[in-house]
Amino acid sequence: MEKIFINGGRPLQGEVSIDGAKNAVLALLAAAILCRDTVRLDNIPNISDVSIMLHILDELGADVKRINKNCVEINTRHFHSGVVPHDLTKHFRASYYLLGALFGRFGHARVAMPGGCDLGLRPIDQHIRGFEALGAKVGFEENAVISLQSDQPMGSAIYLDMPSVGATINIMLAAVRAMGNTIIEGAAKEPHVVDLANFLNSMGADVRGAGTDNIKIRGVKELHGCEYACIPDQIEAGTYMVAAAASGGDVLVRGVIPKHMETITAKLVECGARIIEYDEALHVTAPAGLRACKIKTSYHPAFPTDMQSQFGAMLTTANGISIINEGIFDNRFRYMDQLIRMGANVKVDGKVAVIEGVKALRGAQVKCYDLRAGAAMVIAGLMAHGQTEIEDIEFIDRGYVDMVGKLRAMGAEISRRDIPEQHGLRNAG
Ligand code: EPZ
Repeated sequence: MEKIFINGGRPLQGEVSIDGAKNAVLALLAAAILCRDTVRLDNIPNISDVSIMLHILDELGADVKRINKNCVEINTRHFHSGVVPHDLTKHFRASYYLLGALFGRFGHARVAMPGGCDLGLRPIDQHIRGFEALGAKVGFEENAVISLQSDQPMGSAIYLDMPSVGATINIMLAAVRAMGNTIIEGAAKEPHVVDLANFLNSMGADVRGAGTDNIKIRGVKELHGCEYACIPDQIEAGTYMVAAAASGGDVLVRGVIPKHMETITAKLVECGARIIEYDEALHVTAPAGLRACKIKTSYHPAFPTDMQSQFGAMLTTANGISIINEGIFDNRFRYMDQLIRMGANVKVDGKVAVIEGVKALRGAQVKCYDLRAGAAMVIAGLMAHGQTEIEDIEFIDRGYVDMVGKLRAMGAEISRRDIPEQHGLRNAG
């Protein structure tokens, strides 16, 4: 079992380059199914979720050609739209984009329910409503397979109960080749929704209004191949900005779109960090002591839930009492029990966490409960006095390219090593 080891207490110095956005590229890879030509995707991150999605496309008959670790060509001319089984979809949430993409291409789809981070209940009722509005007959089969069937998907007006990222993306994928016009009212506005709309329009689709809460799609008969570069990952960038501030460091975060970082930048400045904005980079410096703050996560453009854990780690040694209100998921504070093991003073009551800043964290053995909680453990390890040992680091590999290498390049004393499991002694659940 691989673990990450960190000897903390050293400020990060230097610079870090940001890779392509995980939550954009997974939608773009699914969208490649919508045309019979070759699409070429650049700036894709070399992470395990991408490798799994490419494996699924290959299993379904796509011709997948890795040009290099950040570029892939995909041709789905000889695609067969069989069942996408649980053992493929269980690894990550975005596998459910295959429902919208297969339905958009063939008028039918059979995909097992997705896996993904355990953040509490993650229903897909909004996705189902969207598919039904587009004329799909929805079936629920054994092995958690969802089936969609329609002789001719028809455009429709769809009103989401909440601006679900997944449902917005899935409906876009299903609607771009439907007959007639589709309106998604109450759509998600995240940068990755806009990135997908831009990619689909590069393929010849007609999607307008992405980035607002009202997306209009005029269905087209066919889409064609294209070349496209994915946007940079604003959550990866935010994670390193928080790591720089939490360690009292001085870091240039390169290859970002500052506009996508606005709420994260504003919150870090509120906590006392100094941030200089360049065209495609942000320079973060921070004093040894940060200020406490209040955070409420909500839908874009509000503070992103995917940055909640990283700020939670940083605020454990801020001066004063911080309050974090998790407005999106039911269960996104599990990582706090690992921070308490490191000496943090935190109380959690449902969707609210109260953090009283302590002088310092102490290194400890900790585990990752999900992808962003894993990033929080690394940030806490960088802050802590002594050694921190982090297990279940496969979560981190799902969404971060070479986190250990990027942090070492900024002076962190961090490594990852394979530790033989002592049978029967693995931490009880
Ligand atoms: C996407 O998840 C991201 N995943 C998540 O990032 C991110 O946290 C989330 O959006 C919010 O920004 C990917 O893009 C692959 P939602 P998704 O549908 O699509 C409820 C990470 O760390 N809801 O916007 O699942 C749902 O329960 C991951 O990179 C319904 O009730 O998020 C949640 O409370 C973690 N019914 C809220 O909406 C539905 O049909 C937001 O979910 C769909 C969602």
